[in-house]
Amino acid sequence: MLTVVDHPLIKTKLSIMRDETTKAKEFRESLDEIASLMTFEVFKDVQVYDSTDTIKTPTGIILPKKKLANKIIIAPILRAGLGMVDGVRKMIPTARIGHIGMYRNEETLEPVEYYFKLPVVDNPLVLICDPMLATGGSAVAAITAVKKRGYKNIRLMCLVGVKEGIEAVEKAHPDVDIYIAAVDEKLNEVGYILPGLGDAGDRIFGTK
Ligand code: PRP
Ligand code: URA
Repeated sequence: MLTVVDHPLIKTKLSIMRDETTKAKEFRESLDEIASLMTFEVFKDVQVYDSTDTIKTPTGIILPKKKLANKIIIAPILRAGLGMVDGVRKMIPTARIGHIGMYRNEETLEPVEYYFKLPVVDNPLVLICDPMLATGGSAVAAITAVKKRGYKNIRLMCLVGVKEGIEAVEKAHPDVDIYIAAVDEKLNEVGYILPGLGDAGDRIFGTK
């Protein structure tokens, strides 16, 4: 299932990110804020249960402490996905963090996995994060890598994508829900999203 998280606050912050004059600091801050805003939509159907822990309200009432039924794992695709981690974690401070090292070969656009580490927990829900969904190769490979380690409950959160990338993920992994802030027009001849926002990793980390 594809959900386009279409919200005025996300639209205005994304417009800041698309601006080529936006500096790394504001770019990172906008991505962080959008990730927080998207978290509301991504987890809105997660079950909550009454745990055996209790809380006491200032009015003297004892209540069971509410907890998420799933242990949340935030799994950024390195590098650019790292820019979304803190935004999600602000909303879910108990979330564990994994890392998926993946880059796409600049000539073939094929993804190359170079690192993988996810926490092992009971009843995990893995949220794979990557701002850019271009050909979809990196996201498809990342999901395959996560499934290979036995995880089943997986969601994908991206900022900007194109139809081609979305369809690639839907075809390879129809069980994975995709959340995205904007679906752009097309890819250019070197696999960049148009209008897009340029190279997300370089803009986050100032590597160009
Ligand atoms: C970018 C981006 C995605 C990938 C998307 O990463 O962050 O992971 O490209 O492209 P795709 O959908 O065609 O696979 P990149 O390979 O540039 O690595 P980086 O984040 O380390 O710069
Ligand atoms: N990766 C990026 O960082 N930007 C794009 O437009 C496509 C892939």
